[in-house]
Amino acid sequence: MLLLCMVMVEGRSSPNGGGLNVLDFGAVGNGQTDDSQVFGKIMAPSKKNFHSGTKEWLTFDSVNGLIVNGNGDIDGYGSSWWGSCDNGNECSGRPTALKFNNCNYLQVSGVSITNAQHNHISLSNCADVTIFNIKITAPDNTPNTDGIDISHSTRVQIQNSDIGTGDDCIAINTGCSYINITGINCGPGHGISIGSLGEDHSEGIVEEVHVVGCTFTGTQNGARIKTWQGGSGYVRKVSFKDITLYDSMNPILIDQYYCDDKECKNQTSAVSISDVSFIGFTGTSATEAAVQLLCSKSVGCDGILLDRINITTSHKQSTEDKVFSECINAHGTSSGSNIPNVPCLLH
Ligand SMILES: *[C@@H]1O[C@H](CO)[C@@H](O)[C@H](O)[C@H]1NC(C)=O
Ligand SMILES: *[C@@H]1O[C@H](CO)[C@@H](O)[C@H](O)[C@H]1NC(C)=O
Ligand SMILES: *[C@@H]1O[C@H](CO)[C@@H](O)[C@H](O)[C@H]1NC(C)=O
Repeated sequence: MLLLCMVMVEGRSSPNGGGLNVLDFGAVGNGQTDDSQVFGKIMAPSKKNFHSGTKEWLTFDSVNGLIVNGNGDIDGYGSSWWGSCDNGNECSGRPTALKFNNCNYLQVSGVSITNAQHNHISLSNCADVTIFNIKITAPDNTPNTDGIDISHSTRVQIQNSDIGTGDDCIAINTGCSYINITGINCGPGHGISIGSLGEDHSEGIVEEVHVVGCTFTGTQNGARIKTWQGGSGYVRKVSFKDITLYDSMNPILIDQYYCDDKECKNQTSAVSISDVSFIGFTGTSATEAAVQLLCSKSVGCDGILLDRINITTSHKQSTEDKVFSECINAHGTSSGSNIPNVPCLLH
């Protein structure tokens, strides 16, 4: 057993500049089950105590069967970093608070993670992961503070957790498959997103992502797929089902023109998107364009399904406000009783 709180007392004066490979403190990547318990509050060193270029604060690398639980709070002390992102200043090089790389049969539960410097949790190259009953919190105006960021991983279950941050509650990046997400309360934040994919002509591949029974409260997006122009690869076999919205902007959004404030040229290649369903959405939208299927003009989206959608406006004072749908080159079917109506798809 590894007591993470003890680790961090040491970590404050760590010679490696604040980033810690937790394995250095007792967990051994020998394929045996390790059990790490987190109690009390673990506070990161402030920015000035990290070496520049430290990619992660707490890292678990190549531990199979790791269990991280306990009711403790892991606090990234992000406020010592976020200020440098103001006024368009470069603020890359911030560490992820908790990184799991190459950890199979991983279980994370119970813990709270707050105020990460950058992402709260990053998973990469992991298989057979279960994350449940965790809480992730950062203010809604904090830069790129994703809740859980997943890449190159398969068979990941994320269940029954509260995530409110300044960026995506959960982001699913390239190399991911068989990701099931259920019972997440997301907000504030930018929703549950696949992507962004295809940046700088890269290949993005994501399939079999299923998001069920999640709630979005005051989020910038709900169910979102975002790809840059000029990429390649695919996103397919995705479902978002039984989603509740409270005053969320962009409840249903496929954006193949994603451009993170950079100047983006129009390009013909794209990460293709197919077999995506949105079923059982109820609640309110803070924007009128409640359904946006903005697919590449050259590639398009196929096999889009919308059913049992009832999204109304959250602008209660003006009953005139009606939600609507917007489409570019989207193909598939939409039930005729959906609110809003989605006339670009077959009924
Ligand atoms: C993941 O979700 C899909 C679609 O709802 C379901 O068929 C599959 O059984 C789920 N997998 C697990 C491990 O729960
Ligand atoms: C890209 O295409 C859109 C839609 O056709 C157009 O409005 C926009 O000006 C184009 N952008 C550039 C940079 O050419
Ligand atoms: C849609 O939701 C609104 C608000 O919750 C409700 O009043 C209305 O009856 C629902 N419409 C349908 C067709 O279910």
